[in-house]
Amino acid sequence: MVPGMTNRVAAASVPLTACEFFAGGGLAGLGLGRAGFRTVLANDIDAMKAAAFRANHADVSLAHGDVWDLTPAQVPGTPDLCWASSPCQDVSLAGARGGLKAVRSGAFWGFWKLMQGLDAEGRAPRVVVIENVVGLLTSDEGRDFAAVCAAMVEAGYRVGALEMDAALWLPQSRPRLFIVAMRGAEGPAVLEPTGPFHTPRLIAAHARLPEMVKAGWSWWSVAAPARRNLDLSALLEPGLPVFETDQTEALLALLSPLHRARLETILASGERRIGAAFRRVRTVRGRKVQRLELRFDGLAGCLRTPSGGSSRQYVLICEDGRVAMRRLSGREAARLMGVADDYRLPSSESAALKLMGDAVATPVVEALALGLFQPALAAADPEGAAAA
Ligand SMILES: C[S@@+](CC[C@H](N)C(=O)[O-])C[C@H]1O[C@@H](n2cnc3c(N)ncnc32)[C@H](O)[C@@H]1O
Repeated sequence: MVPGMTNRVAAASVPLTACEFFAGGGLAGLGLGRAGFRTVLANDIDAMKAAAFRANHADVSLAHGDVWDLTPAQVPGTPDLCWASSPCQDVSLAGARGGLKAVRSGAFWGFWKLMQGLDAEGRAPRVVVIENVVGLLTSDEGRDFAAVCAAMVEAGYRVGALEMDAALWLPQSRPRLFIVAMRGAEGPAVLEPTGPFHTPRLIAAHARLPEMVKAGWSWWSVAAPARRNLDLSALLEPGLPVFETDQTEALLALLSPLHRARLETILASGERRIGAAFRRVRTVRGRKVQRLELRFDGLAGCLRTPSGGSSRQYVLICEDGRVAMRRLSGREAARLMGVADDYRLPSSESAALKLMGDAVATPVVEALALGLFQPALAAADPEGAAAA
């Protein structure tokens, strides 16, 4: 067990309820749970994710299926918070937000249709959170980001966003966008963008937003954590088998001259150094080539879904002038998301890596919940959302 990592739920002084959409293995719920939220409903379409969710959250009602098929009747009571780690592709295509066109486009609109259904019954959540890749800020020239924010402002929410990199908490570089909307609750905010989570690209995206969204915008404020004191080597499982020499050499043959030189320098020092490597396809002089990219800064690169065997994460162990390599394990991937070892992973390593590669880093969720959602909800009138 990695020191400081726990999946245990904190005792809440005020019981707060959450629904988790696009829930995957339920990591948003783990982070929220540490801040006293109780997940009352979760949803995901994928069978492997649903099985992993059930294995770890037996007490949570899981609706396995398409978010478009959910109805307000399936949502118990008035949830305080709804979390959606939605795949937001083509969000702006759903400009009409109705009919077949919307069904085919971003699943976000399926989630939002449900929020509108709850609103019609006076059961809208006071806090809505959308987690997505940072590319949402610029996809379709910013129209996707504007469409999501505009929907929330039109429904009477104040909206703001934070770009948070899990690397501030964990040894993994994982920048993600969190769009937070509040109605009948007001989280801590600043008048001007500031601090590590209002990044230049977020500020630029905000500048492109339509005036009606800017009028409903808040620069939510969350304190940065104390300096991270955990690095990749502290999260590795001891004694896992390494590749045969020829497999390692075949992988090292994919290094660019720059990365090879870096490795040679480390090997020449004879020191013990742990590194991370990621195999990916790069375009070099107009040609697609496989590359192995190394880093020795104590961080793993952003975990991704292993697709078609081409993108994989490896661990490098350099010692006495020699290098050994192996795959990153599913358990190590879980640790890199801030998940404690009592979390039950799928027995297949590739399923475990997919589960974690798609997930949200739990300490980031916890920081948002403690720094923003909890204070907002604690100060708010419980009837506020319905009345807004
Ligand atoms: C980025 S992942 C979110 C993972 C989750 N936050 C976690 O921590 O594990 C997006 C999830 O959305 C699910 N999904 C995609 N389309 C969906 C749909 N139409 N309805 C419900 N779930 C969907 C996928 O199966 C995937 O698990």
